[in-house]
Order: sequence, then C-alpha cells, then structure tokens
Amino acid sequence: MKFFLDTADINDIKEAASWGAIQGVTTNPSLYARTGGKLADFHDHIKKICEIVDGPVSAETVAENRDDMVADGLELSKIAPNVVVKIPTTVEGLAATHTLSAKGVNVNMTLCFTVPQAILAARAGARYISPFIGRYDDISEDGIEHLSEIVQAINNYDFGHPVEIIAASIRSANHVTQAALMGVDIATVPFPVLEKMVNHPLTTNGLDRFMADWEKVKNA
Ligand code: G3P
Repeated sequence: MKFFLDTADINDIKEAASWGAIQGVTTNPSLYARTGGKLADFHDHIKKICEIVDGPVSAETVAENRDDMVADGLELSKIAPNVVVKIPTTVEGLAATHTLSAKGVNVNMTLCFTVPQAILAARAGARYISPFIGRYDDISEDGIEHLSEIVQAINNYDFGHPVEIIAASIRSANHVTQAALMGVDIATVPFPVLEKMVNHPLTTNGLDRFMADWEKVKNA
C-alpha cells in the first residue's frame, strides 16, 4: 500500500515527506481553503507541493461543466509533470475525464461511492479512483464494506490502462488497516491520522522501559 497525504498544508507535507512516509498528496478545495489560500495563489501552491513530493499530486478542478473542467485540467496539468487532475464522479466529470485521459492527462475521479460509479470512472480513462469511506460512516453506513465492493469489482476487469484505487475520506488508523487487508493500492490520509498510524501506546511504553533500564546501566 502506498500512502498519500490528504492535505494542502505545506508544513505537514514537508514533515511527512521527511519521514519517508508519503508517496503522493491529494488536495481538494476544502483542504486548500483550510490553509487560508487565495485563488490567485492556487497554482503556485500546487507547484510548491509538487516540488516537495516525489509522486502524484492531485489538484481538483472546481469547474462545473465538461468544457471548463477540460480547460482547467489542462492548465493544472501544466503546473508540473506529477500533477493529477482531480475530477468529481458526475456526468460532466466523466466526459471531462474521457477527454483529458485521451490527451494523456492523469485523472483522479473523486467523490466515488458505488461500484457502478467506479467502473464508469475506469472506463472513462481515470488513472485513479477515490472511494470515500468516512462520508459513508457519517450516514451510518459501513464505508469499509462499500470500499471492499469497489475493490473487488475493479479487480474483476482489465480496463486497458493502469487503474489504482485511493481509499479516501479516511478518519482513523483502523480505516487504513482495513483497506490494507483488502489490498487497496493507496490510502490518502490526513496528517493527524498519519501520526496515529505511527504512534502506539505499547511502543511509547516499551521505549520508556528501555530508557529507564538504560539509566540503570549508566549508573551501574
Ligand atoms: O480525500 C477526500 C477527503 O479529503 C475527504 O475527507 O474527511 O472530508 O470526508 P473527509
């Protein structure tokens, strides 16, 4: 499993990259807004992320129709070779993905919730598909179960081009565990979840014990 960081926060990206923990980044309009980012700085911001991360960086279009999505996607793809254009799984999004993928632009179809949506995304040419887990949990459905159905369905077919699933809307380390056990290609995680993935109370406790015993060795 590869880990992407689900954020637009440059400091968090630098920190996670310094751990060798991330192989890509996913951003969305909400995540960019959370950094206090301005529209005029958006492309520069994505460029900075692309320079830090040696891997795919998803930048989402906010256009609402296929022509604008394609135009926006082409602009985004010029920012850096590792930009992936993120497009919602809608009729307009599928049409834009179809056009952009034919032009060699890598697309990540996002806001994917069902097996039919995922297959349509792959058929339209999406390089990545992002099923959302937490948003299902928010409405008292089992996001992991939906993810598992999508993984199984996508693995049933050869789409004639590489398709990787990005487990998204991840809220806990347990979501990551469940996704890894079903062999999901990529998990995109918020920084606080990445920290929780590293830290374990028994690791902390074990380290405390080693350090206490080492004090005894030093004083012996
Ligand atoms: O990658 C998608 C993600 O940013 C959405 O997460 O927590 O807003 O459902 P969340």
